[in-house]
Amino acid sequence: MKIAVVGTGYVGLVSGTCFAETGNHVICVDNNVQKVERLRNGELPIYEPGLEVIFKRNTEDGRLEFTTDLLDAVNRAQIIFLALPTPPGEDGSADLSYVLGVAEELGKIITDYKVIVDKSTVPVGTSEKVTAAVEKHAKVDFDVVSNPEFLREGVAVEDFLKPDRVVIGTSSERAKSLMHELYEPFVRQGNPIYFMDERSAEMTKYAANSYLATRITFMNEIANLCEKVGADVDMVRIGMGSDRRIGKRFLFPGVGYGGSCFPKDVQALGKTAGENDYNFQILKSVMEVNNAQKYVLAHKIKSHFNNDLKGKRIAIWGLAFKPNTDDIREAPAIFIINELLEAGAKVVAFDPEAMENMKAIFGDKVEFIKHRYDALKDADALAIVTEWSVFRTPDFDFMAELMKEKVIFDGRNLYKLEQMKQFGFYYNSIGRNTVEQKQLTPAE
Ligand code: UDX
Repeated sequence: MKIAVVGTGYVGLVSGTCFAETGNHVICVDNNVQKVERLRNGELPIYEPGLEVIFKRNTEDGRLEFTTDLLDAVNRAQIIFLALPTPPGEDGSADLSYVLGVAEELGKIITDYKVIVDKSTVPVGTSEKVTAAVEKHAKVDFDVVSNPEFLREGVAVEDFLKPDRVVIGTSSERAKSLMHELYEPFVRQGNPIYFMDERSAEMTKYAANSYLATRITFMNEIANLCEKVGADVDMVRIGMGSDRRIGKRFLFPGVGYGGSCFPKDVQALGKTAGENDYNFQILKSVMEVNNAQKYVLAHKIKSHFNNDLKGKRIAIWGLAFKPNTDDIREAPAIFIINELLEAGAKVVAFDPEAMENMKAIFGDKVEFIKHRYDALKDADALAIVTEWSVFRTPDFDFMAELMKEKVIFDGRNLYKLEQMKQFGFYYNSIGRNTVEQKQLTPAE
């Protein structure tokens, strides 16, 4: 099939590349000339595991093209995906100006039947707005379909190639059959394609993300309470998760959710509720609790040092909002670092991929270190903020040698309490008992 993808952001690039991988011809369009130039030269603007290999293969085979010419791309495509940004406006609602602007443009240029697909996360009712925008100028038939994406950064290629489900919102039989043909190769392992009306498809995306954000937030509150009552949230999590109605995944407490989706989508769904005169109370609490959770680790550090971090050197391991990405949007690390700097700390940070992005925010205020152990030299404490695999089994003896104080604040519960006792660290994690530092007696 011939496909155009408008917008080469995260979703557009991953979707376009993966559609090409199953043999379709994909033309990705973007109005950013430099970006398109770089993509044509084989340069990917984002870090996403597995993407580079298939990007290279499909561009070299000529199935994946990049252009700034919307007219040419649209003329050659049967299906046009809109993967455009929908940033939160000042009031928290999604800003649809990019999506509707392109929709209007499409109305002017289409000369035969097209399926126009909303891939961006858009509020309920957007497909009607897109239809109206295209209709303003269109002289030919078209259908607007809502097809939300459920990609997780870091595993987006796998999620796209083997989705748990595909959700397609359309009332048109013609569009349904084309979308089925396009997605059928991705669900051969037996996972479903769900066809539904446009509004339900749009709602599904917000409901899924808001539910997951709520689930994490609930676990963060359970963890905070575990600390107060002396329970271990890791045990509680396992005990809860083995109930099949609950399930084991996505129950990990931490430093609060971040990223480009959850914060934005929870806020936007709350806004939709408000506009429809519905008081969605849980969402309000989720946002409030998550905002507070982002500061939990920093507050623990401050209170450990009697609220005075002047002259203290705090090492940070992990800056990205989650592992396997260089994305720092709404990353808890930003909030934690700000808090530490304000309290007078010297912050030294390491992340395998996200340091460049973080430098753009903090500049010289934070010292960025190329190797994870070098960040620990003379540190008064280490704070673990992102659970990169490379932090999971470090050389604790070496860490103890490097650090001024053997003090770890772990926002991701990477280490066993026993292990920390054995190596003699003060270890404060999320929702578990604190391991106090063993005072060595002279005999030892
Ligand atoms: C999310 C959705 O999972 C995806 O389906 C949607 O399309 C886009 O938004 P993403 O933002 O890439 O994906 O990351 P995800 O893995 O879902 O994690 C989101 C946040 O929740 C991260 O900050 C992560 O650290 C946090 N999280 C996740 C937890 O704190 N605990 C968990 O158990 C899982």
